[in-house]
Amino acid sequence: MRLSVIGCGYLGAVHAAAMASIGHHVVGIDIDQRKIDALSRGEAPFFEPGLQEILSEGMASGRLEFTTDIDAADGSAVHFVGVGTPQQQSGHAADLTYVNEAFASLTPHLREGDIVAGKSTVPVGTAATLAPKVSDAGATLVWNPEFLREGWAVQDTIDPDRLVAGVLEGAEGERAADILREVYAPAVAKGTPFIVTDYATAELVKVSANAFLATKISFINAMAEIAEVTGADVTLLADAIGHDVRIGRRFLGAGIGFGGGCLPKDIRAFAARAEELGRGESVNFLREVDAINMRRRDRAVELVIEGLGGSVFGKKIAVLGAAFKPHSDDVRDSPALDVAVRLNGLGAEIVVTDPRAIDNARRLHPQLTYVADRDETLRDADAVVMVTEWDEYRREMAPEHVSTLTDGRVVVDGRNGLDAAAWRAAGWTYYGMGRP
Ligand code: UDX
Repeated sequence: MRLSVIGCGYLGAVHAAAMASIGHHVVGIDIDQRKIDALSRGEAPFFEPGLQEILSEGMASGRLEFTTDIDAADGSAVHFVGVGTPQQQSGHAADLTYVNEAFASLTPHLREGDIVAGKSTVPVGTAATLAPKVSDAGATLVWNPEFLREGWAVQDTIDPDRLVAGVLEGAEGERAADILREVYAPAVAKGTPFIVTDYATAELVKVSANAFLATKISFINAMAEIAEVTGADVTLLADAIGHDVRIGRRFLGAGIGFGGGCLPKDIRAFAARAEELGRGESVNFLREVDAINMRRRDRAVELVIEGLGGSVFGKKIAVLGAAFKPHSDDVRDSPALDVAVRLNGLGAEIVVTDPRAIDNARRLHPQLTYVADRDETLRDADAVVMVTEWDEYRREMAPEHVSTLTDGRVVVDGRNGLDAAAWRAAGWTYYGMGRP
């Protein structure tokens, strides 16, 4: 099929390349000339495992192209819209400027029978307001939320655990769902659940999934707070409750909490939307989820201060990690960078390293010092703070080796990813999150 993908960020660029890799002809469209130039050269504009490969293959096959010219959407059977919905500058609600602009620029290019598939994460009710404009152009709107995780985006797009299509009632909606089934034919043929809903449900599936995941993380981080005053160990607690299949161990990783371009802004936007709908109290707990999450960053800073005897002023601190999670170069709302910035604000001399995210981190916080080499970062440090659990720090960093580089013997494990016993045995004072 011929497809267009409007918006070539983390979501759209992966979607475009993934759709080409399963055999479609795809044009990716974005207003950012730099991004389009990189993609047109077959270069991934950000780090995402597997993206470079499918991008190169797609370009070589002639089935994948990128442009800033919206005219290129002409003739596509399905137009995906995957532009960003950031948090508003003032307030918690989602900023729909890019979505509205994308729809406004796309509408004149729609033909009778075309499908527009909204993928952006939007406040519930958005699709219903966009649908009439799409219908006026003779096309049909479906809402097709995206559940990809950064770091696994290619796999999650080609082989998702479920597909959701929010459609209009009746024959027009059924036809739209059938066309989406055709787009995702390989996944559908494998028996991937394909759930057809109304618009509001499809929009809510996305935000409620993210709300649930954020709540799960904050739940275990709340338990970490209780563990801290009782001498309990939250990692053992998570293992023990995680064996209950109704609970499950995944997303019970206590630490400095969640960040990134989705969970933080999505739960805030959800709470803001619920408020507008007169149902603020239904998701009031999301404010607590957010507050617990932010407190864990404070806690990591407190532990560093404690470890360094009451003040970090003038102390050299090696910060391992800047990305909001491993396998990503994304530093949007990164708890790791936030901890580094806070320590810097307290007068510490901060040196940050990360296998992938240094360039993005430097653009956002040029005041910090960045060093690409892990061991150089550790040299002469008074304390070590591990805030993104890359294998380079978690598995491939022996405490005995670190001891040959640093001055101090204080380690704060912001992700509970280090082997506490091994660090202690090597003479270190180890601090975990919610662990004795
Ligand atoms: C998330 C959702 O998982 C995905 O389905 C949605 O489409 C977009 O938002 P992503 O932002 O890529 O994906 O990251 P995710 O893997 O969910 O991690 C989010 C944050 O939670 C990270 O900062 C991570 O470090 C943190 N996290 C995750 C924890 O603190 N503990 C955990 O146990 C799991």
